[in-house]
Amino acid sequence: MDIVFLNGKWQDKNSAVVSVFDRGFMFGDSVYEVMAVHKGRIHEKQAHLSRLQRSLSSTKIKSPYSRKKLSLLLEQTIEKSGISNSIIYLQVSRGVQFPRDHKIELGIEPTILITLTEKKFLDWSQIEPLSLITQADFRWARGDIKVSSLIANVMLRNEAVRKGYDDSILIRNERVIEATSANIFLAKGGTIYTPKKSRFFLHGITRQTVLRLCEEIDLQAVERDVFKDEIFEADEIWLSSTGNILRPVRKVNDHSIGDKYLLKNSLWRKLYQQYHQDLCKAV
Ligand code: PDD
Repeated sequence: MDIVFLNGKWQDKNSAVVSVFDRGFMFGDSVYEVMAVHKGRIHEKQAHLSRLQRSLSSTKIKSPYSRKKLSLLLEQTIEKSGISNSIIYLQVSRGVQFPRDHKIELGIEPTILITLTEKKFLDWSQIEPLSLITQADFRWARGDIKVSSLIANVMLRNEAVRKGYDDSILIRNERVIEATSANIFLAKGGTIYTPKKSRFFLHGITRQTVLRLCEEIDLQAVERDVFKDEIFEADEIWLSSTGNILRPVRKVNDHSIGDKYLLKNSLWRKLYQQYHQDLCKAV
């Protein structure tokens, strides 16, 4: 898509600019959402708008528009793009402030950016499994707010890449938290486990959808503390996120989980296919 929505205007993506004094640039003082569009429809739109609202109120960033207007802008973005399957990125920063000061100046107006990128839905057979490494979670203790200051996530992801892995499983007090940009699920003996909600990780919309689908197709799913040792005893592990839906895990550290996810009756495969049906469901 060649245009982006920035501060009330549709603009060419190559010439759209934000002030160097924007607090988003200076401090990472901004929040964001990532949404999947399937056949022209935003999957779980209301859940994304609600989470955006929560991020804005937790950080006390002013909402640039009403919920209704934001929803309309998202629909217009899809319409203008002419693309039916995509990922929408929406960011709201606190706004421009000069001179630089941690203290927020009263009355500054938020900056809003919306972009859209084409993204095709992959069939389960096209999905590449991941290899992950466990690392201590040194991020802040408010991982539940979707803020764009992601340097710790970027460091932890790229440390994994540097060591030859795809991503990190983040561990805090012996507990599994999440990956650097996805939530985590483990399956053992036919039951699915995912860490119970806390302030340490993002409450993913995909995670919530997976839990709803488990209920709909009668799979047993439990939200509770998940301990690091359980990783090495799991039958299946997968990561969930809007961009990549459910990615199976083949290896953690030097422990092989293998290719069980490919089996016809694997829980990952059932849920991946169920997720696709959910994406296609009419509103
Ligand atoms: N990331 N945990 C973290 C730290 C994330 O950044 C994300 C999403 C998730 C999964 O959330 P959801 O299911 O709502 O996408 C969990 C987005 C996609 C990103 O930063 O690009």
